[in-house]
Amino acid sequence: MSEYSSVDVEALNEDQAAAELKRLSAEISKHDTRYYADDDPEISDGDYDALRQRNDRIERRFPYLVRDDSPSKKVGVKVSRGFEKVKHAVPMLSLGNAFSDEDVVDFDERVRRFLSLEKSAKLDFTAEPKIDGLSISIRYENGKLVQAATRGDGAEGENVTQNVLTIDELPKQIVANDFPDVFEVRGEIYMSNSDFAALNEKQIQVKGKVFANPRNAAAGSLRQLDVSITKQRPLKLFAYAWGEVTGGVDSLPSDTQSGMFKALERWGFPVNPLTKVCSSADEMIAHYKMIEEQRASLGYDIDGVVYKVDRLDYQERLGFRSRAPRWAIAHKFPAEKATTIIEGIDIQVGRTGALTPVARLLPVTVGGVVVSNATLHNKDYIEGKGQNGEELRGGHDLRVGDTVTIQRAGDVIPQIVDVDISKRPSDAEPFEFPTLCPICKSHVTREINEKTKKKDAVSRCSGGLACSAQVLERLKHFVSRGAFDIDGMGDKVIDEFYELGLVKTLPDIFTLEKRDADNELSKIANREGWGKTSAQNLFEAINSSRKVELARLIYGLGIRHVGETTGRMLARHYGNVEVFSSAMKLVAADKQGAEYHALIDIDGLGDAVANSLADFFAEEHNVSVFDRLLEQLDVQDVEAVEDTSPVSGKTVVFTGKLEKMSRSEAKAMAERLGAKVSGSVSAKTDLLVAGPGAGSKLKKAESLGVKVVSEDGWFELID
Ligand code: IVH
Repeated sequence: MSEYSSVDVEALNEDQAAAELKRLSAEISKHDTRYYADDDPEISDGDYDALRQRNDRIERRFPYLVRDDSPSKKVGVKVSRGFEKVKHAVPMLSLGNAFSDEDVVDFDERVRRFLSLEKSAKLDFTAEPKIDGLSISIRYENGKLVQAATRGDGAEGENVTQNVLTIDELPKQIVANDFPDVFEVRGEIYMSNSDFAALNEKQIQVKGKVFANPRNAAAGSLRQLDVSITKQRPLKLFAYAWGEVTGGVDSLPSDTQSGMFKALERWGFPVNPLTKVCSSADEMIAHYKMIEEQRASLGYDIDGVVYKVDRLDYQERLGFRSRAPRWAIAHKFPAEKATTIIEGIDIQVGRTGALTPVARLLPVTVGGVVVSNATLHNKDYIEGKGQNGEELRGGHDLRVGDTVTIQRAGDVIPQIVDVDISKRPSDAEPFEFPTLCPICKSHVTREINEKTKKKDAVSRCSGGLACSAQVLERLKHFVSRGAFDIDGMGDKVIDEFYELGLVKTLPDIFTLEKRDADNELSKIANREGWGKTSAQNLFEAINSSRKVELARLIYGLGIRHVGETTGRMLARHYGNVEVFSSAMKLVAADKQGAEYHALIDIDGLGDAVANSLADFFAEEHNVSVFDRLLEQLDVQDVEAVEDTSPVSGKTVVFTGKLEKMSRSEAKAMAERLGAKVSGSVSAKTDLLVAGPGAGSKLKKAESLGVKVVSEDGWFELID
């Protein structure tokens, strides 16, 4: 960032504008390279657009300062940063997995059962390598390649036609009298190991992005908006399936998968030479072993073997289950392993306050990827205890200095699966899991699971309001609809103010106007995207939110397990903020005490909520923020609940569309009248308020003989 990067365009003088244009030109060009050439953008599209807009605005103010290398002059760099979307006429599916020989035998049996075939009946499968690349669907119309799309989410992918046209070994025009008018060939785009190595070497020389493996390199090379870059990347393809075909399966030149393979080859598509027809599970397994033995010398990455039922009419009958065909399966190679040393254990604090230990490893290559970190999940895991209390690694703990085996399966994060105790250095100490948050020094707690009464696996920082790892999320929650509902202060504004250091903790929201007026900071009204009116509106919205219901305040604190309903229950119970605040301090001081028990006794409130409130108020960092917050607010006492209302003490459920009030208003109204609002109908329900479109809840209420009224009926009832 240059020293003028945060000065509003209108406030720049000529020298500053020239310096900014220079910075922006270099910065935008750097991001273009990262995005277009490296497929590895460093900033969001929004931030990128903001840079370009700033450049344009400065140029408009100072046209005589426009640089020769200005981003606005560059031709060929597309401003649009995405591919067009393409809907797949036939979805692109994934495959189920087999991990063992038994799984393959099961697959054969499953298919036979489905087709009601005897064990002795003939049933052939094709077996071929599973290519570790990215799948593609390429459409031909009247023999001409007209469109290519990535898999995307299976239903919709990206239009990469221009990029796919650069693949040399792919036919662009097919002349064959049995080639269907419309034919979508499906296959895998990949990069060979030697091309991958050469590309990375080149990337190092030009200080470009170095790819972790051939798969990433293939994906990064294909998805280039600047096709001239794709053209320089040696991409290859294996065809193995098809999508939309004119006339459907019946118009294909063969009625088997293996026959279609030959047709694909005849039409000029590259197909994998290791494809074989097998007539039993044993033959499939034997072919799998043969391919596995050749794996290292193939020259391209594969991660298993795919088996497909050979007869296409069988494939049709078998069909699909969820997103995978019943007629095919991927027999995966076992995860790759490597040995290395734990050089350190760091603790990361997530946005919800969860503490995750991470092992820093002596870098090692596993399955072609350099691994230097592995998650250690949680405290128990480090100590050799699994989620369900079982022993991990023979019950051995993990220590800095330990020699460990790490495993990487597919795209899964590397795991430590074993430790070699014989190699443990004599001075290696057991890891001491922190009791204070490494970021904010608040206490670390572990919740008790209400069902199992056991400690939860996750350790959490209890200083939610004070911990910089968590506070951004808390701020966003605080200003959100169910809480303080501050107009004009959405997630983006919070992000902006937090980044600028204007709002770092909850009370800062309410001191913003004064600090802005005192000119302690450059004025918000002068910031890009702001103006006098919008700043004024924001301050007004903040000020009017100072007068707040107790329930919203409690909910707004973002304490774990304390949602809107619990917030309201607590507010009703304690009545005003002073009572609530002193009760919480007593609850926190003694989890066995009377105040704690009184809290648990509140109808419907469980141990988890009470515990979490106690932990929150036991943390002095939070209490200090809370007290400072109260100085800024005018917290309303809770209106006394009307005992005499006709719904007092009743359990009410709202369902269907309410036309005169919102759901939350209806809920608040019912609660104010002393009713308990529930989300589901049971024998305990006293009243169902059903609007138009009510479905299963209405049916259930009727079958249970629960009283049902319309929205109007509700208003009549409560008068
Ligand atoms: S057949 C409907 N054959 O693996 C079946 N897929 O894990 C379509 N893949 O999305 C897939 N090599 O990208 C098939 N020889 C092969 C394959 C293969 C790699 C990929 C494909 C698919 C993924 C599923």
